[in-house]
Amino acid sequence: MRCSIRERTVRKVEAEVTLPKIIFIEANGAEHPVEADLGRTVMEAALKHAVPGIDADCGGSCSCATCHVYVDDAWVPRVGGRNDMEGMMLEFAEAVEPSSRLSCQIQVTPDLDGLMLRLPLAQR
Ligand code: FES
Repeated sequence: MRCSIRERTVRKVEAEVTLPKIIFIEANGAEHPVEADLGRTVMEAALKHAVPGIDADCGGSCSCATCHVYVDDAWVPRVGGRNDMEGMMLEFAEAVEPSSRLSCQIQVTPDLDGLMLRLPLAQR
């Protein structure tokens, strides 16, 4: 089957794009570096790669907090703050810290390459 010039160009560009790597760190120190698809959420990247401790029971609708992560201090400015609904949901989560986020509310962008996220002790 022949590809059009446009299709070949799109495939070439896609092949050249390197996906951002996100590093999940369990409370016991085990690291899980995963490649995350652009435009998806950090939670979806964790599920795709079966990162332990990210259950995402609500499927990303911001209503369970089983995707709770701590954003590494160096990354907080780049990741940004919580949205209102996320903040309300985190009020019911355990061991919330100033850097707590719900990973289903963080969009994967190219500038998140190298992002480090720790998981709460309760999530294993
Ligand atoms: S997956 Fe349920 S709050 Fe994030």
